[in-house]
Amino acid sequence: MKQQDHAKRAAGEQAASWVQNGMRIGLGTGSTVAYALEALGRRVREEGLSFSGVPTSIATEEIARRLALPLVALAEAGRLDMAIDGADEIDPHWRLIKGGGGAHTREKIVAEQAARFIVLVDESKVVQRLGAAFPVPVEVAPFAAAPVMEALRRLGASPALRTDETGAPVCTDQAFYILDASFEGGIEDPEALGPAIKNIPGVLDHGIFAGYTTDVLVGGEDGSVRTLKQSIL
Ligand code: 5RP
Repeated sequence: MKQQDHAKRAAGEQAASWVQNGMRIGLGTGSTVAYALEALGRRVREEGLSFSGVPTSIATEEIARRLALPLVALAEAGRLDMAIDGADEIDPHWRLIKGGGGAHTREKIVAEQAARFIVLVDESKVVQRLGAAFPVPVEVAPFAAAPVMEALRRLGASPALRTDETGAPVCTDQAFYILDASFEGGIEDPEALGPAIKNIPGVLDHGIFAGYTTDVLVGGEDGSVRTLKQSIL
């Protein structure tokens, strides 16, 4: 196991330990959340833990079904007690870039329904300024990809269509494309940029999450977990 995976596992297991009987939980997407799902699977088997999970992607749903985690549709779950999810970057104001796995649209919908949004990261993802090292994923209708790229350039971005190893566009769970929008030097004002991107016709949603995070668990390579404190805005 890589050092970063030890850190991801530590954060994932800590989040799973916070789940209590009867809770309704949003289940995020990605390799860090996968460790939380595994830990939840163990708790279901060993302790008889009972909860209802709302998966944020087909990938998470498949893992959860393999682990026999109890699932429920978002429409039936209503308000969630908490959602646990990974992130690609987190800044001192707990704003995030998500969508490295292309699931940010459903992840944001689920985060919006959750009383607590618990973000699981390792140290490499804690940054001073969003976007300096990671592009903003933008989910677009395939028909709109070219004009959305133009509009993103006008916002100062260098967008690239996300492709797989064969060169074909990556398709999301909504059968949309992903544009990865790079901002040289990072993003000056994430709160302003997010709505500006969302306002472009053809955009379903983007990976800037501002105002959702309530708790942050930072996994360490030695298996420790530290809880971040939010800086005063
Ligand atoms: C998927 C996401 C993931 O949470 C994010 O990419 C982090 O993934 P990982 O835990 O594999 O590093 O936003 O859309």
